[in-house]
Amino acid sequence: MTIWTAVFLMVILSYIEADDYCYNEPYCDPYAWGDFFHSCHPLLEEHHSPIDLDLHMSRNTSLDALQLEGFEEVQGGHWTLENDGHSVVLLVGSGMSVSGGGLPGLYHTLQLHFHWGSPATNGSEHTLDSRRYPMEMHIVSMKSIHPNVSAALDDPTGLAVLGFFIDVVYADNVHFNYISQKLSTVAHKGQVSKIKPFALMSLLPKHNLSQYYRYHGSLTTPPCSQAVVWTVYEVPIYISWTQLAQFTSQIFSTEEDAEQVTPLQNNYRHIHPKFSRVVSASRDARVLLATAGRPVSPSVVLGLFHVCLLGLLTLVP
Ligand SMILES: *[C@@H]1O[C@H](CO)[C@@H](O)[C@H](O)[C@H]1NC(C)=O
Ligand SMILES: *[C@@H]1O[C@H](CO)[C@@H](O)[C@H](O)[C@H]1NC(C)=O
Ligand SMILES: *[C@@H]1O[C@H](CO)[C@@H](O)[C@H](O)[C@H]1NC(C)=O
Ligand SMILES: *[C@@H]1O[C@H](CO)[C@@H](O)[C@H](O)[C@H]1NC(C)=O
Ligand SMILES: [Zn+2]
Repeated sequence: MTIWTAVFLMVILSYIEADDYCYNEPYCDPYAWGDFFHSCHPLLEEHHSPIDLDLHMSRNTSLDALQLEGFEEVQGGHWTLENDGHSVVLLVGSGMSVSGGGLPGLYHTLQLHFHWGSPATNGSEHTLDSRRYPMEMHIVSMKSIHPNVSAALDDPTGLAVLGFFIDVVYADNVHFNYISQKLSTVAHKGQVSKIKPFALMSLLPKHNLSQYYRYHGSLTTPPCSQAVVWTVYEVPIYISWTQLAQFTSQIFSTEEDAEQVTPLQNNYRHIHPKFSRVVSASRDARVLLATAGRPVSPSVVLGLFHVCLLGLLTLVP
C-alpha cells in the first residue's frame, strides 16, 4: 500500500515538475526546458528567441512604423495584472491591435509582461550588439484569423511580439507607476489584481517608434513555439532605479521563495544562434549608420560554434 502511495505521489510530483519551468534551478532552468518541452530544444536550423541583435542586419526600406490601434485611448472596463510565477502579466482586454510595418495581417493585442535581472545584473532577453539592458517589456498580439492561442502557435507568424528594452535613469517614469505601484498586490504566484485601464502608448517611447529590428523567432518561454514575428524597438523606455527595484524585489515565483524572501530574478532565456535567419533593420533604424562596417570579431564566431556544438550534444539522449 505505502509503496503504491509513494509511486502515486512520485507520478504526481513529476507531473507538477514537468508542467512548471523555472529560471534558477538546474533541473527546470532554461537549459533544461527541452527535457519537458521538446520544442524548447535548441535544434540546428531552428528559429529560437531571444537572439543578439548584432551588426549583421540588412536594411529593409519597406519596414515603416507599425499601426498601434487603440493604444492612445483609455479602454473601458478593467485590466488584470497577474503573477504567473514566471513574470508579471497585464491582460489588456480586447480594444487594441497592431498591423503594418511589414506584419502579415492584423494582430489583436492580448497582454504585456516583463523580463528583469537583479539589483546587480541586467535582465533583458534580447541583447543589442551584446549589450543586455536592465529589463525588457513584451507586448503580445495574436493574428486575428486565429480563434485561440493554440491555433496561433501552429502558424509561423501566428503571434506578433513588440519588444522594448527598458533602461534606468534617476527620474521616475510616472506612467510606469500604473504597473510598478501595483506589483506588491501580486507578490505571490496566482495573485490577480484589477487595474484601471490607461493609454498603453504612455508606456512607450514618445518618439522613434519607426526605429526597430525585425526577425522570425519563438516564444522565449515554454513551449518555445516558433510562431513569433519579432519587432524589437531600438530606443528604450526609461524608468527609475526605484521602479526597477520594485520588479526585482517584490515578485515571488513560489511559496517557499516567498517564505525565504528570495524574489524572482533573472527571468530571461539565454541567447540563441541566428543560423540562416535574416534580421532586418527598419527604414529609420539608426544602428547601422552608427556602426556600419565593423567586422564581426573572431570570438563571436567561436562563441556561435560552441553553441552549435552544445546544441548537437544535447541531442544525444
Ligand atoms: C522587406 O519586408 C517586407 C515586409 O515584411 C517583405 O515582404 C520583404 O520580403 C522584405 N524584403 C527583403 C529584401 O527582405
Ligand atoms: C547593464 O545596464 C547598464 C544600464 O543600462 C549598462 O550601463 C551596462 O553596460 C549593462 N551591462 C551589460 C553587461 O550589458
Ligand atoms: C482552437 O482553435 C482550433 C481551430 O479552430 C480548434 O480546432 C481547437 O479546438 C481550439 N482549441 C481550444 C483549446 O479551444
Ligand atoms: C530619434 O529620432 C530623431 C528624429 O528622427 C533623431 O534625431 C534621434 O537621433 C533619434 N534618437 C535615437 C536615440 O535614435
Ligand atoms: Zn516575454
